[in-house]
Amino acid sequence: MNKFYITTPLYYVNDEPHIGHAYTTILADVINRYYKSIGYQTFMLTGTDEHGLKVQQAAIKNNVSPKQHVDDYVKRFKKTWKKLNIEYDYFIRTTNSNHIKKVQKVLQNLYDKGDIYLDEYEGLYSISEERFITEKEAEEGDYREIKKIKEKNYFFKMSKYQKKLIRHIKQNKNFIKPETRKNEILGFLKNPLNDLCISRPKSRLEWGIEVPFNKDYVTYVWFDALLNYITAIGWDVDNKKFNNWWPANYHLMGKDIITTHAVYWPTMLMACGLKLPKTLLAHGWWLTNDNKMSKSIGNIVNPLEIADEFGVDALRYYLMRNMVLGQDSSFSRESFIKRYNADLANDYGNVINRITILIEKNFNSLCPEPGKYQQSEHDIIDFTNKVVSEVDDNMKKLKIHDALANIFSLIREINKYLEIKQPWKLIKIDKSKKSDAATSLYISAELLRISSVLLIPYIPEKATLTLSSLSQKGIKQHKLDFGQLKANIAIKSPGALFPRIEE
Ligand code: MSP
Repeated sequence: MNKFYITTPLYYVNDEPHIGHAYTTILADVINRYYKSIGYQTFMLTGTDEHGLKVQQAAIKNNVSPKQHVDDYVKRFKKTWKKLNIEYDYFIRTTNSNHIKKVQKVLQNLYDKGDIYLDEYEGLYSISEERFITEKEAEEGDYREIKKIKEKNYFFKMSKYQKKLIRHIKQNKNFIKPETRKNEILGFLKNPLNDLCISRPKSRLEWGIEVPFNKDYVTYVWFDALLNYITAIGWDVDNKKFNNWWPANYHLMGKDIITTHAVYWPTMLMACGLKLPKTLLAHGWWLTNDNKMSKSIGNIVNPLEIADEFGVDALRYYLMRNMVLGQDSSFSRESFIKRYNADLANDYGNVINRITILIEKNFNSLCPEPGKYQQSEHDIIDFTNKVVSEVDDNMKKLKIHDALANIFSLIREINKYLEIKQPWKLIKIDKSKKSDAATSLYISAELLRISSVLLIPYIPEKATLTLSSLSQKGIKQHKLDFGQLKANIAIKSPGALFPRIEE
């Protein structure tokens, strides 16, 4: 059986989940559900990044211990993912005892093999970024709270793997996506790579994983967090499970954390003698009304508020449809309502109502038995088959918004077909079985079924309700080939699934 393993970044538990976090997690869920729907055995991982200065500072600010703080914030993330209908397989917390043990094991292994060494280093340290920065980075001015620090620390020999990494990126054209990010990383790798400082003295930071060979240090939060992608699936505990899932098909992330994933992580894996993930996918930023979201501006969009107001599926749909993967996108109430009304209320909502209500009223709520197909029926069936294969192609190329555009082109085509056939008029002439009215309604209902099956990964709740109204409840693996609806099964209107928003 084909395997598919997808991950989200681990979210820092120093804040409430916001729309950016929700986007990546929904994206992973949509891709994962899609692969599951086409028969893959899938595993989706998400979780929380619980160590480091940011969390320690947030805990101090809230007047609680770091442990109490993380336990409280984790609940908020889990609650959000539940509400947003995320079907993850495992939620990893970097404070899990197994994760801690395995991070220490990696550190020990690399120390023993000479890939980690102690050195005194003097350099510029950005407290906000929690890492040493170069003079050039300091000049660029993106970093806050810069201090000159001289201290002994442990370093990972990242430079040793630079050439091998460049070769890997060049030889594996799907390793970093999109192309712009790949070029950015290759540009970054033109300069000699420094070794990575992977420890922090406890005198500066206590909330971290203790370095196994020196009690006075904790592990740098990124070195700890990146390893979650292997500790979560049983590395060094359950080899069978680990080998089943590793290497990951996709690591998803925002563009701000591509360097850690495309440079630190692969070199760490090389040092461990493990395979590299197949694809790192960096998406763009969600802005609010074209501005960067920030706490100080107060323009952070809370996904739960949007879901409460307009519905979870409406939020999922908007986020997937309005962002071109890789580019930034702007969230606004106007664009949200416009998208909702045009696609969900008008196109999809309309087609569901028309078909189910006509069948309910005129065919005794039973699926009509079709008669002979004419050219128009053959044409729309061909069109549907084309859409199904385009969706597959776009999903595999991660063109999520295009896949949705494909599905909605089918939904609009059904509406057009109904306009041309006008079954509401045909009914008045003849509504016996195999009549033209019966044929056009059968075709429309079957195409509504196929569109709804295609929509499950994006809008699972409403697509499933639509399928239930077509007596397609409880089917584990829905088929996408035409002709699955059986004549005389019950068909009932599901009611208004996407009422128009008037503002
Ligand atoms: N803890 C690290 C990741 C460790 S992965 C081993 C981290 N956490 S984060 O909570 O700060 O960010 C998590 C993700 O949210 C990142 O991929 C980041 O790009 C994403 N986003 C944060 N704000 C965002 C937007 N406004 N828009 C889209 N995604 C953004 O980094």
